Amino acid sequence: MTAHLVIKGGTPLRGTVGVLGAKNAVLKEMVACLLAPGRHRLGNVPGILDVELMCQVLTHTGCNVKQEGHDLFVVVPEELNPEAPIDLVRQMRASIVVLGPLLARCGQARVALPGGDDLGARPIDMHTGGLERMGADFELVHGELVGRVEGRLRGTEIELPFPSVGATENMLFAGVLAEGETVIVNAAREPEIVDLISQLQGMGAQIEGAGTSIVTVKGVDALSPNDHVVIPDRLEAGTYAVAGAITAGDVTVTGCRPEDLRMELRKLEDTGAEIERGDGWLRIVGPERPKAVDLATLPFPGFHTDMHPQMVAYLSIAEGTSVVTENLYDARFRYVGELARMGADIVTEAQHAVIRGVESLSGCPVLAPDIRAGAALAIAGLRAEGITEVGEVSHIDRGYEGFAERLNALGASVERHD
Ligand code: UD1
Repeated sequence: MTAHLVIKGGTPLRGTVGVLGAKNAVLKEMVACLLAPGRHRLGNVPGILDVELMCQVLTHTGCNVKQEGHDLFVVVPEELNPEAPIDLVRQMRASIVVLGPLLARCGQARVALPGGDDLGARPIDMHTGGLERMGADFELVHGELVGRVEGRLRGTEIELPFPSVGATENMLFAGVLAEGETVIVNAAREPEIVDLISQLQGMGAQIEGAGTSIVTVKGVDALSPNDHVVIPDRLEAGTYAVAGAITAGDVTVTGCRPEDLRMELRKLEDTGAEIERGDGWLRIVGPERPKAVDLATLPFPGFHTDMHPQMVAYLSIAEGTSVVTENLYDARFRYVGELARMGADIVTEAQHAVIRGVESLSGCPVLAPDIRAGAALAIAGLRAEGITEVGEVSHIDRGYEGFAERLNALGASVERHD
């Protein structure tokens, strides 16, 4: 059997849990280092599997990477090896954002095509389309995307048909060293993008409009290495908040930014959870049983798609019926069958899930299909009667440092078996 968590449910969580830097920021900030030769430092870096994988991607391009506690040092050479091989890209789709920096620095890039993943098809047409408008050419050679640009990339106006996080990041990476001005219209506004822009500005990039839908980048000739501290992980914070709520517990999350979780906390309040917020912390007291709420996932500042599985787990024990609509991914409800094994009453149809709240869940063996669904199943296990075994824990390891330890520090009973 692969690594699994054995969770004894039924204890209300109480106490304080600290969160680390955001996975979805640090992965891109590691890639941003490629834009400037020299020694970069990133602080507040979580010890998670995806960071290890991105270290391998950077090492493959010729960087020297060293992690010391929660600091990460990346030494970027003058000459990069402009490729990301299939074994790494397959394990971590986020590797596709190396396209922009490699084209900008080397005039070429060979990146394995990521294909789909557990959440669905996940095309990259907006990444390649935008880079083509900036002068790059792509061809697909034996499963690898081979990109080239004659001379420098050239700034232009790029309208993204959807505010894609990854495509916005690739356009930023391409734009900072391009000739002239790049205007990204319908840019993603996620806090992780704002943090990435602040890192790039620290490296000497000229960018305006961070956090808005129109971001303007004035290309410069060269960037220099920098020190940057990664913003807190709102998804990690949100996950522990829901863990507190589902157990009718009283949990304080520190090292977080409640302002990055407005919609998610609002929905938790609508279920009857009491929430206090401060500078860098939040406290949640869960109701005995939540009230049902409806929600739809949307780009920031809408409800985050990566918080929906945790919320569905929570709503599965609500009084009443909730409807959750998933607008970003076409295959995100695959975990619902596992929750149903625990007694949840959930019907899905296209991008909607109808969740009829049940009084209690009962523990059983389940498999984590991806990071957030894995966390959601563990959260359900905290409330369930008896023992829940969550298999395929490596998915949870991709995004949460010390998941079992942190829950246990709040009074949960979670044993990890490797
Ligand atoms: C990032 C996050 C992921 C989160 C997502 C949305 C990382 C490592 N991952 O993923 O956890 O769920 O943002 O907040 O930061 N799309 C296209 N064509 C493209 C690009 C995207 O059709 O070229 C579609 C996707 O299939 C999806 C939607 O756009 O339906 C949003 O994707 P996007 O914002 O790009 O997500 P990622 O950057 O991949």
